[in-house]
Amino acid sequence: METSIPHVLIFPLPLQSTINSTLQLAELLCLAGGLRVTFLNTNHNQQRLLRHSDVQSRFEQYPGFRFLTISDGLPEDHPRSAEQFGDIISSLQSVAEPFLKEMLSDDVAVTCVIPDGLFYYAVDIGNEMGVPVIIFDTISPSCLWVYLCLPKLIEAGVLPFKGNLDALVTNVPALEGLLRRRDLPHFCLLDYRTDQNFQAVFKEIERIPKAHGLILNSFEDLDGPFLSCIRSYSPKTYAIGPVHLNLQTRLAAKATPLLSSSNSLWEEDHTSIKWLDEQSIGSVIYVSFGSLAVVSRNEMLEFWHGLMNSKVKFLWVMRPNMLKGGESHDQLMKELAEDCKGTGYIVSWAPQKMVLAHPSVGGFLTHSGWNSTLESVVEGKPMICWPQYVDQRVTSRLVNEFWKIGLDMKDICDRSVVEKMVKDLMGTKKDDYKKSVETLSEVAKISVREGGLSCHNLDCLINDIKGLAR
Ligand code: UDX
Repeated sequence: METSIPHVLIFPLPLQSTINSTLQLAELLCLAGGLRVTFLNTNHNQQRLLRHSDVQSRFEQYPGFRFLTISDGLPEDHPRSAEQFGDIISSLQSVAEPFLKEMLSDDVAVTCVIPDGLFYYAVDIGNEMGVPVIIFDTISPSCLWVYLCLPKLIEAGVLPFKGNLDALVTNVPALEGLLRRRDLPHFCLLDYRTDQNFQAVFKEIERIPKAHGLILNSFEDLDGPFLSCIRSYSPKTYAIGPVHLNLQTRLAAKATPLLSSSNSLWEEDHTSIKWLDEQSIGSVIYVSFGSLAVVSRNEMLEFWHGLMNSKVKFLWVMRPNMLKGGESHDQLMKELAEDCKGTGYIVSWAPQKMVLAHPSVGGFLTHSGWNSTLESVVEGKPMICWPQYVDQRVTSRLVNEFWKIGLDMKDICDRSVVEKMVKDLMGTKKDDYKKSVETLSEVAKISVREGGLSCHNLDCLINDIKGLAR
């Protein structure tokens, strides 16, 4: 590999959501030219990616790009379910730590590392070896800001929470008066001295000021107050999002043919688009809980009855590994698919960005994953939020109370509530939410165009990286 051209090593979390946004970032860096980019993926996910996405043909046009793979340290037949996420991360660390040390010890090979924020050890290794590290935190900035405030919450004796979950949270500037205890990441209810999530987050936030910079998938007009707060810990914070829109816009400007652009780890079912083609404008609610969330059989049925009773048409993604405890849902999915004919359509994985862009889709029942939220905002689709973990809980509150682009069903899973919210979002309250989310969508588009702040921040990031090579 030539040494004069800056070489960026990108190291994402082994998750669909992070692989999506980091591949988009990788492509943006490739488009900038004058950079070499290595994308470090786990063997397991690389195989799935090559099987189900178009990355191979898409990245062929960038001679400076390559994939590099490592083991995640787990046996091939390990289920790697979301419920085992902690184990996956520590197993991967045992492989990645020595790997990174060796790779960075050749001091001309890598100019800059872009790891996920949870890979705190990459910051330590980079600093030790004199290789700048720019963290890419793919969660929502508002949640990252909550993370940065956790030490203050502990110091003030606010954590661990006891009692009323509807009490407002203090000691988190910019979110005061808005966040209730129940809106915080789920682990805030646990004991910070022993909980694994807390320990991981503490390590993550401790490294933020020690890294060269921080990349966030958001735009100033969406998350401005939280970005300002985060900059007091990391002055070089680059808000370059929505990353997928930034990429789309730059590809269009270069007249690069827009391929289907899928980074999927599952096979996308395109019959969902055909089904949507047959529905009337704005009539369908899209239901998906992302790539990780697991639900119980009962919860699934509450949503099912709520949707059916609302009489609103729906397109629902039921992932194969979606039932709690690894229970197979094949039979249930078959039965539900049969019973909802005429009203609903069920697939196991959809081309989500295409679905959200489809004119027949009028709303999104989501778990408030950060990618899903941004994708929905960009397409101007209001949301009903049913969050589970980490940032989803903060995001859903902001969707409802701050950006006012949807409803928050937090901690409730009841068919009558589902029915009412679906009717509200798709009927009585439709116009209000639609108007505010369409305004945000427009602002997002302006931010990634030339002269917009996400476009400018991306240019600054690229110049920063190129400057590191001198
Ligand atoms: C997780 C967390 O849930 C989220 O809160 C955090 O911000 C990132 O990690 P995930 O649960 O998978 O991610 O949600 P999300 O961030 O929304 O990412 C899911 C991605 O999968 C989206 O980009 C979405 O477009 C894609 N997807 C989902 C599909 O392509 N097809 C589907 O059928 C469902």
